[in-house]
Amino acid sequence: MSNVTVIGTQWGDEGKGKIVDWLASRADIVVRFQGGHNAGHTLVVGDQVYKLSLLPSGLVRGKIGVIGNGVVVDPKALMTEIDRVTAQGLVVTPETLWIAENAPLILPVHGALDRAREAARGDHKIGTTGRGIGPAYEDKVARRAIRICDLAEPETLDWKLDELLLHHNTLLAGLGAETFTKDQLKDFLAEITPRLLPFSCQVWDRLDEGRRAGRRILFEGAQAVMLDVDHGTYPFVTSSNTVAAVAASGSGVSPSSVGFVLGIAKAYTTRVGEGPFPTELHDQTGRTLGERGHEFGTVTGRPRRCGWFDAVLIRRAVRVGGVSGIALTKLDVLDGLDEISICVGYELDGQKIETFPSAPGAQARVKPVYETMPGWKETTAGARSWAELPAQAIKYVRRIEELIEAPVTLLSTSPERDDTILMRDPFED
Ligand code: GDP
Ligand code: IMO
Ligand code: MG
Repeated sequence: MSNVTVIGTQWGDEGKGKIVDWLASRADIVVRFQGGHNAGHTLVVGDQVYKLSLLPSGLVRGKIGVIGNGVVVDPKALMTEIDRVTAQGLVVTPETLWIAENAPLILPVHGALDRAREAARGDHKIGTTGRGIGPAYEDKVARRAIRICDLAEPETLDWKLDELLLHHNTLLAGLGAETFTKDQLKDFLAEITPRLLPFSCQVWDRLDEGRRAGRRILFEGAQAVMLDVDHGTYPFVTSSNTVAAVAASGSGVSPSSVGFVLGIAKAYTTRVGEGPFPTELHDQTGRTLGERGHEFGTVTGRPRRCGWFDAVLIRRAVRVGGVSGIALTKLDVLDGLDEISICVGYELDGQKIETFPSAPGAQARVKPVYETMPGWKETTAGARSWAELPAQAIKYVRRIEELIEAPVTLLSTSPERDDTILMRDPFED
């Protein structure tokens, strides 16, 4: 019996939330370990739709949800989300939600700086979610973040805010944006403290107790390997590491606790925001995938860019992320297509290359080399067993396994929780 860590293998929105919700029935504790409310996970359970950004998806199953120290926490966004899911009938209390007291806070200055910098970048913008994620992580490594545990020592906040504002107001003023006063931030912190502090605890200690008691932990990654600050399409990435190794440092557990690494991959590819995307389709097929897959960002509502499955990128995500198996989602979106293409290599300036380059100029110039297969006319939507899948869809899945050098252990055939096919239980590995 092992723990399971779920990560995205493309540019996010692969359906991690749906898969985590489905797997959570087999887990006791679900842990978010990086990212923040830039994530957006849609879960469909019967006629209820849950949209989660910061709360671990396992809360929907009534499991204990944990926000680890590797997450950047926007307290107002968190409270709004708690209020929303409470209105939908979920129970979120300090017994069911544990938040690491050493997690850094996202403050109003961070969102303001994120948006001001994006505006100043003009044509070179990253296309961030504008939620202050990058600036909050910068403050963490610069050692000027306000962490949740600081709220319990209000007498120390004065000089911390002085240091923080010296930095941020200088930048905001330089960018021609509105600056902040210390009183504004003090009022913000005073307002959120009474509601936030009761959730905070030493998460590492409780997870260790859980381990000793034989509890199963499901680590829920946000974003994806191609958005990883080291391994992704830098600088068009998010500001955290998204690979499975971070599940340990981002929650305070042993590296051996990561367990089975389940990489989530869409049966095609999407991306929100700017940056290279070799298999992007600008034609009717791209629009068809977007319409059929309802490809609009959960967080910002932006239409997602769509393209064919890129096996070269996923093979890299498998290796870098230590992926043990793949959950392939949204197979149903390909139903009825005459032909389906898979990217099996690239050409760069007329030369064949087998891996994705690192420099952004080269990443933007690579041209995909495709292998094309016939599609299938039957529907896979809602299939719950391998036997229900058309032969040609099975061929597609098998070819993907060969190309990415990893087994497909789960398949998802609709947004609905139970439209899922299990080939190998990751917790039993
Ligand atoms: P996440 O960020 O990785 O959790 O993914 P999102 O929730 O942002 O985006 C995935 C979208 O696809 C959501 O709207 C899901 O409800 C939906 N979805 C997940 N799995 C499937 C599937 O197998 N088929 C279809 N058609 N939709 C799916
Ligand atoms: P989930 O967990 C898709 C993208 C943004 C932008 C880049 C940097 O739902 O898969 P940031 O605000 O993080 O500084 O933006 O990263 N991005 C995501 N794209 N899914 C996400 O999360 C994302 N989180 C960030 O669009 O391109
Ligand atoms: Mg998402």
